[in-house]
Amino acid sequence: MKMQKHLYLLSSLFVSLIVFSSCSQKAKEPFIDPFNYSIVKKVEAENAAVVSAHPLASEVGKQILIKGGNAIDASIAMQYALAVVFPNAGNIGGGGFMVLHDKYGNSHTIDFREKAPLAAHKDMFLDEDGNAVATISQDGHLSVGVPGTVGGLFLAHRKFGKLPMKELIEPSIKLAREGFAITEMEAKGLERVANDFRKYSTIPSAFIKEEKWQAGDILVQEDLANTLQRICDEGEAGFYEGETADLIVAEMARGGGIITLDDLKNYKPVEREPVQFSYKEYDIVSMGLPSSGGVLLQQMFGMLEVYPIKEFGFQSVEAVQLMVEISRRAFADRTEHMGDPDFVSVPLDKLLDREYILQRIIDFTPGKPTPSSAVKGGLMQLQEKEETTHLSVVDEEGNAVSVTTTINGLYGSRVVVGGAGFILNNEMDDFSAKPGAPNLFGLLGTESNAIEPEKRMLSTMTPTIVLKDKKPFLVLGTPGGSTILTSVFQAIINIIEFDLSVEDAINKPKFHHQWQPDLIYIEEGFSETVKNSLEEMGYEFKRRSPIGQTEIIMISDKGIEAVGDKRGDDSAAGY
Ligand code: GLY
Repeated sequence: MKMQKHLYLLSSLFVSLIVFSSCSQKAKEPFIDPFNYSIVKKVEAENAAVVSAHPLASEVGKQILIKGGNAIDASIAMQYALAVVFPNAGNIGGGGFMVLHDKYGNSHTIDFREKAPLAAHKDMFLDEDGNAVATISQDGHLSVGVPGTVGGLFLAHRKFGKLPMKELIEPSIKLAREGFAITEMEAKGLERVANDFRKYSTIPSAFIKEEKWQAGDILVQEDLANTLQRICDEGEAGFYEGETADLIVAEMARGGGIITLDDLKNYKPVEREPVQFSYKEYDIVSMGLPSSGGVLLQQMFGMLEVYPIKEFGFQSVEAVQLMVEISRRAFADRTEHMGDPDFVSVPLDKLLDREYILQRIIDFTPGKPTPSSAVKGGLMQLQEKEETTHLSVVDEEGNAVSVTTTINGLYGSRVVVGGAGFILNNEMDDFSAKPGAPNLFGLLGTESNAIEPEKRMLSTMTPTIVLKDKKPFLVLGTPGGSTILTSVFQAIINIIEFDLSVEDAINKPKFHHQWQPDLIYIEEGFSETVKNSLEEMGYEFKRRSPIGQTEIIMISDKGIEAVGDKRGDDSAAGY
């Protein structure tokens, strides 16, 4: 026992040393020119690869791998980099989930989802008539959940990291302090929310500019660099305590928010059991509650397995109809039963029972829609400003990491912490403000996802690893709110059933159904012939903006292929 304690103290000392040792004020040379870089959509690599929403973040990850870091190190460095170079979704002010399959063949997940503040309460987003008010749950200070990203990255590092944490943060400090050229897409995003940044920030931030943002403008984030430096110097306490925590709480006080020093100090990420299931010769590992992603994916593949989807063919009328009917049933269960497992009892045994899953699809009739009202009721409109981000990494040692993080909407709550330079999430909107009131993604909820202090809001993020012969085969995920799940489902089926290339699996037009509203959402380019045939059966369609930004790494006999989605600035790197 004494020996164990001794060993524990020694290992704690070692962890402290690797976390805190001499965080250099002066970061190393940039890996690539941050003022002149290109987007690389596809990389074929022999040893290791990364893919993320931004070329600079992917390059940071690649360099960490080259200097001997493992996939977990690279994913941590990339997450910090995304917080700098991809402010619309990359973050330290949000939360997310990590799914890891390690070189020993074990799967792990880390939940660093945001939590409701201690002062939050069930009716906080209702007006005096009891109606849900989306403007309060989606924008501004009250919409902010207690951020989990920094805690999650430290937990991942303590358990699985190899290089000192400071080496993982330093590239981002440099990018924030010295700046980088923004892409056209980022310029458009910043312009789109310019007025909101003015409205919700109580102190001017780097995101507010007199002239219009344009591609190539240099974004310098001195306050964010200082925050990252504090995290680098002090570890998690550099975010959850001390100056950064004081700045967050001061921001809350100025803007009418409710996050306190206790909320920040109490925040703890959690290791959770992964959702793991087999589909034909594949084993699929994904995120469990409080993300509905893995559970729904297991239900959806369970329903799919009894149909000859391969024979139907890619986006044939039969395949699309079946996948729509499967999604409809899975999303209905999400609404009814799911919430934070630390607070509500979710009947997972039942929801994942093979018989139950098959029973769900038994009433499916080819050629005829099952109206959503016959599965469950409710009405809503899907809004189109979901923002989240995904990164995938595989290393030389055989570790694979799939991470999806979010600040929820595009640029989150649009609140920038005055003096600390980072954007806060608007994740409180992922709770069900009231049964039957749709959230940002048009998703409904019940009591199981009602607001309670310290509870985690239900998510749809689905970072996933598909194993073949027990080894990582696909490492994937995407942003997109409720569409995350249907995008991941389609991407996997496109590869393993329809034999599409990874690029086509990502880039071909997608479709989406989420039970309510009873509509099939389609992207530009979706087949008119298939749409017409399904309309004749009675399905209704709605065209919408691009769905997701899927990142996939595929590891096969031919080597490693990393591909970023054409819909964004997504970029791959490898060696
Ligand atoms: N904020 C989107 C999600 O967590 O599903």
